[in-house]
Amino acid sequence: MESQVSDAAAGQAEQTAGEGQTDSGAAPGPAASAPLGAARWKLLRQVLKQKHLDDCLRHISVRRFESFNLFSVTEVKKLETEEEAGAWVQYTSIFYPEYSIFLRHNSGSLNVEDVLTSFDNTGNVCIWPAEEVLAYYCLKHSSIFRDLAVCELGGGMTCLAGLMVAISADVKEVLLTDGNEKAIRNVRDIIARNQKAGVFKTGNLSSCVLRWDNETDVSQLEGHFDIVMCADCLFLDQYRASLVDAIKRLLQPRGKAMVFAPRRGNTLNQFCILAEKAGFSIQRHENYDEHISNFHSKLKKENQDVYEENLHFPLLLILTKDG
Ligand SMILES: C[S@@+](CC[C@H](N)C(=O)[O-])C[C@H]1O[C@@H](n2cnc3c(N)ncnc32)[C@H](O)[C@@H]1O
Repeated sequence: MESQVSDAAAGQAEQTAGEGQTDSGAAPGPAASAPLGAARWKLLRQVLKQKHLDDCLRHISVRRFESFNLFSVTEVKKLETEEEAGAWVQYTSIFYPEYSIFLRHNSGSLNVEDVLTSFDNTGNVCIWPAEEVLAYYCLKHSSIFRDLAVCELGGGMTCLAGLMVAISADVKEVLLTDGNEKAIRNVRDIIARNQKAGVFKTGNLSSCVLRWDNETDVSQLEGHFDIVMCADCLFLDQYRASLVDAIKRLLQPRGKAMVFAPRRGNTLNQFCILAEKAGFSIQRHENYDEHISNFHSKLKKENQDVYEENLHFPLLLILTKDG
């Protein structure tokens, strides 16, 4: 169960990501000729802004849509000898119950250091619905990964989808990545824990920090992958172009990218425009799975208070390099 603080952070992240992540314009201020008055106005504005934010977060934290119910989550009893921090849970696919993995969410609230020292913490807040759907899709279509090298980008604190490939497919290699170090520390522990439990089908599974906008991170893996995949990574205005570039460079010439993301305003369209400019052909799918389509229709009818198609329903984009 997530803490209220992390729930609120999820609400804030979701809200921020709704239309892409941009700075909001400053509210009109008082005349510059009255410095004391100006300071008072500034203070009042900050207090009002904070109150508004608190109210929004409280509202959102209660009403947030969390899951397409594709995995059951059970608590794992702590072993006597176990010293690792954080609560472990077991994620089991509802549709393919033979596939199960131990996961640990990054524990509780984000601390000040997390917020100040890392560039993006949206992957440390929760497993977003698009990741859950990508993970389910990977299990359902595990045969497409046979003998291929697969990389997950921006997988967050669990890289759930990449893990599903590693436990279900006869894959050549799986690399789990994110740009956030805290997320990848957690992924490392998850890999170690599940290696002990012997759940992986492939012996070639690893993780690393990979930032789309870091030349070294990208160039050392240039042309290495047959499949690159990511979930809910298109809303960051600042990094969208570097994500397109990283996907293009990491893929071998006949490789494919599998991208799941909600529309989030115009951000998915903006990604498609950039990807086409970079020479990708894009297939865009809304009805990629009968169960997800049915659940989506039901949510739209019966859960309008929590479910917003724009923020929650992931579309599937398949990108191939032209020529
Ligand atoms: C909304 S989260 C999605 C996480 C996960 N895929 C999920 O859906 O649960 C976006 C992820 O993108 C990662 N990210 C953002 N900018 C990045 C960059 N420039 N390079 C690499 N990863 C980045 C963040 O660290 C975060 O984990």
